[in-house]
Amino acid sequence: MIYELSNPVAKTLLNHLREKKSDALRFRHIVQELSRLLVYEALKNETLYDQTVTTWQGEETFGFIKEEDIIFVTILRAGLPMIESVTALFPNASSGFLAMKRDENTHQSILYYDRIPECEGKTVIIVDPMVATAGSLCDAISVIEGKSPKKIISLNIIGSPEGMAVLKQKHPNVEVFIAHIDKKLNEYKFIIPGLGDAGDRSYNTM
Ligand code: PRP
Repeated sequence: MIYELSNPVAKTLLNHLREKKSDALRFRHIVQELSRLLVYEALKNETLYDQTVTTWQGEETFGFIKEEDIIFVTILRAGLPMIESVTALFPNASSGFLAMKRDENTHQSILYYDRIPECEGKTVIIVDPMVATAGSLCDAISVIEGKSPKKIISLNIIGSPEGMAVLKQKHPNVEVFIAHIDKKLNEYKFIIPGLGDAGDRSYNTM
């Protein structure tokens, strides 16, 4: 399932990301705001569990998302601002990290570091701003699928129609929430019009 945000606030933020004048600090800030909008959307039907809390009027029971059942997984390095943002909302969720690098000649992603907690029966939410060929995301999904989670969700900022088609075909059960699907990939597998390389723009390595 692929769900593209139609929210005008999300579209406006996304289009500010495209602006060259958005410096690294603003770029990461917008990515973080969009990550929140994405996680709100992705968890809007989540079950609430009763929990008793001490309020200003004594003990009362209210509904909460079971944060302990959520694992956020990011793909370094462009996903770092995203995981900071979503874990700030759910401080009791766990986090996992995958390091991948897209080979600039073959455009294939290479996994070189993998630190994922126990996923069995949990909801794993992958965060990565860009889905170009979807190679990195498919590899991340395969690693996580091997760990028997209850559900896999992917939160992404921008993607290509080509990448979405690959995801639909290879991982139809993964729930993808994306802020915007752009026009196409170019010959170098960059998203067009896109926003450049999110990792480089976040960390000033252009
Ligand atoms: C970017 C991005 C994705 C990947 C998407 O990372 O964050 O992980 O490329 O491309 P794909 O869909 O074709 O696999 P990149 O390899 O540029 O590394 P970075 O995060 O260090 O910038």
